Amino acid sequence: MAIVPNPYKTTGFLGWIDDRFPLTKMWKDHLSEYYAPKNFNFWYYFGSLALLVLVNQLITGIFLTMNYKPSSADAFDSVQYIMRDVPWGSVIRYMHATGASAFFIVVYAHMFRGILYGSHRKPRELIWIFGSLIYLALMAEAFCGYVLPWGQMSYWGAQVIISLFGTIPYIGKELVEWIQGDYVPADATLNRLFSLHVVALPFVLVGLVFAHILALHEVGSNNPDGVEIKKNKDPVTHIPLDGIAFHPYYTVKDLVGISVFLIIFCAVIFFAPEGGGMVLEQPNFQMANPQVTPPEITPAWYFGVFYAMLRATPSLFHSALPGVIVMGAAVVIFFFLPWLDRSPVKSWRYKGPIFKTLLMLFALDFVILNYLGMQPVSPTHTLIARIGAIFYFGFFLLMPFYSQWEKTKPVPERVTE
Ligand code: HEM
Repeated sequence: MAIVPNPYKTTGFLGWIDDRFPLTKMWKDHLSEYYAPKNFNFWYYFGSLALLVLVNQLITGIFLTMNYKPSSADAFDSVQYIMRDVPWGSVIRYMHATGASAFFIVVYAHMFRGILYGSHRKPRELIWIFGSLIYLALMAEAFCGYVLPWGQMSYWGAQVIISLFGTIPYIGKELVEWIQGDYVPADATLNRLFSLHVVALPFVLVGLVFAHILALHEVGSNNPDGVEIKKNKDPVTHIPLDGIAFHPYYTVKDLVGISVFLIIFCAVIFFAPEGGGMVLEQPNFQMANPQVTPPEITPAWYFGVFYAMLRATPSLFHSALPGVIVMGAAVVIFFFLPWLDRSPVKSWRYKGPIFKTLLMLFALDFVILNYLGMQPVSPTHTLIARIGAIFYFGFFLLMPFYSQWEKTKPVPERVTE
């Protein structure tokens, strides 16, 4: 039976494929004929870097799983085995552990860019929502992975985080036992966190990243001016006048970002693989011991903001439930950002001084809270964390007002660079 020839007029082997599978179509739609604004700047490196780190985590994760043993009796020793006996094992583990920290640095920069240029605003709300879901899944993935080496911090970190479910009224105690599969974090807990870390959550993450990029390519990329380039198209070719083909222009630009990133990444892996105790923490060099609590249980650095809020929220009737609610709200509020920002302009370039100042203060607040989450509790720290938490929520909840009322600058018709 004759096949209708594909519209790309490709021949030979490629033509044979194109008659049966949209290979050339996908290449054109997503790379060589995906027109992105020509004024992308430094902040636009982080999306492709997040992709790179995702691939790094998947590949190094596969090799770690080949030698890791998910049981409370063997896990710690199997990690030592990877570090000492498996050829290249230590490099693979360092790449994975440093990759986890790099993931959060890159994703935080990527999210900040979004807020800076209003990339979450109409028509990109779904890109943002998929992104926020990715962020949630990433936190779950990082938590599960952190438990796997079954060191002291793994064990007690798991204990603290899982016990948060115990604050839920009525069902809390039973829920904690159900999640743990035991009365304390134990073999069953490690086994299920392993399956979530290695199978379920990577699937969710990869699926969400696909949806994220598909949604982006449906509406087109935003840019530092917040101008919609699709509004100004060439009358003949219908190509946006301010657009350039993603491939080769941005593939080449992204290669520069990737090169710089890899230099820094390798420097950490080869010269400071423990990241000064931030990537691999000192108590985690001791095997999990349910009888000995470490002097300070601090989460991985990237959870600092939320941990600081949890600790700073006063308990109610001896229950930490308010802290858990505040911590959850601090994450969930990101989902609502597209509707909280009511400014008539997208990019901060054309917003007024109030928005600009508050955004900078919010970034500072985020860093301070994160630092506090990694420090021991003290009355001063608690006070600063409380002020920081109030500012954090104020920034979001008052946004509908200050973003709408403030006078903005006129947005140009075309991109400016
Ligand atoms: C695994 C994590 C992630 C990956 C691999 C990823 C990947 C990407 C890529 C490749 C782009 C296009 C390039 C660029 O604009 O930089 C992009 C755009 C975007 N991402 Fe992500 N992303 C991730 C997480 C997130 C998160 C957590 C958010 C926000 C909560 C987010 C929000 C956005 C937005 C709003 C855009 C559109 C930007 C624009 O057009 O200006 N992403 N993402």
